[in-house]
Amino acid sequence: SNARGDKITDETKILISSLPSDADGEGKKLCNYQGCWYYYNTLQGVLNFQRGFQPQDTDIILASFPKSGTTWLKALTVSLLERSKKHSSDDEHILLSDNPHGIVPFFEIDVFHESSSPDLSKFSSFPRLFSTHMPLHTMKPTLKDSPCKIVYICRDVKDTLISWWFFVCAMLKVEPKTSILESIYKSFCSGAIYYGPFWEHVLSYWKGSLEDPKHVLFMRYEEIKAEPCDQIKRLADFLGCPFTKEEEENGSVEKISDLCSLRNLSGMEVNKTGKVNDVDHKNFFRKGEVGDWKNYLTPEMENKIDMIIQEKLQCSGLKF
Ligand code: A3P
Repeated sequence: SNARGDKITDETKILISSLPSDADGEGKKLCNYQGCWYYYNTLQGVLNFQRGFQPQDTDIILASFPKSGTTWLKALTVSLLERSKKHSSDDEHILLSDNPHGIVPFFEIDVFHESSSPDLSKFSSFPRLFSTHMPLHTMKPTLKDSPCKIVYICRDVKDTLISWWFFVCAMLKVEPKTSILESIYKSFCSGAIYYGPFWEHVLSYWKGSLEDPKHVLFMRYEEIKAEPCDQIKRLADFLGCPFTKEEEENGSVEKISDLCSLRNLSGMEVNKTGKVNDVDHKNFFRKGEVGDWKNYLTPEMENKIDMIIQEKLQCSGLKF
């Protein structure tokens, strides 16, 4: 039990004792459930979700590996859905009143963190918007044949790794040390990292999007960076709220792109202060660049991780 009041049931403790185990660089224990590595309290959230979630047809689920652009995807989706709500002025926009993670809760970290039958009325946006870092195969049996929509954001593995390193150091309140990078790099390569292996995660959604493109959308961080308006329109089409001709002409797409830019979001008062789940809002925003890994990884590290990813994604059609 910790400050957040994590409840690990006796049943879960028995399950954990039968699962493969490992530890992260700080010695915090991980266990492997259905092919994915979780901290114990997160596993409890996953199990609670699997036991208790009842999907509704209109639900939207935003999925990602940590540090892949989750915050951005949340902001974009919230903004797309906000269009249908009329505001007298722009300063009422919901993104000004809360961090994207406060608006769109994680299943296993927020909604089902403590119980398999949470009161969902406090998450009563319509349509309901949820998020997760679980791989698709862990979520699927619970969603059954629900027509709900799942959007996955995928980011370059080396940028994700570097982003994770900075985030971990910010959480530990230490300078980004090379020793920490090396330890995270090792876990990334072995796969035994929170929500890892990275490739299993990405592949579960990649395959899901190929099998069922109407319900699983696979987006890429780099593509949103390169062509934000096209990708925002793609997301809107997928979610069933396409831009009208009039909206396109009056610059609505660009407006959402600008509103959700890293610069704009990180400059908002609400994101400069406050916390969600022990994370300072400001720690969700750093550089947001493509290829930042080049400033930190050695050629050896680069080669090894490229080789691993290439091998693991072989024949999948997915390329990095
Ligand atoms: P960097 O550390 O490379 O800057 P997540 O939201 O999944 O936690 O991912 C965090 C990463 O997304 C960080 O990457 C962060 O800077 C970047 N990010 C956050 N908000 C963003 C935005 N609005 N646009 C682009 N990138 C964003």
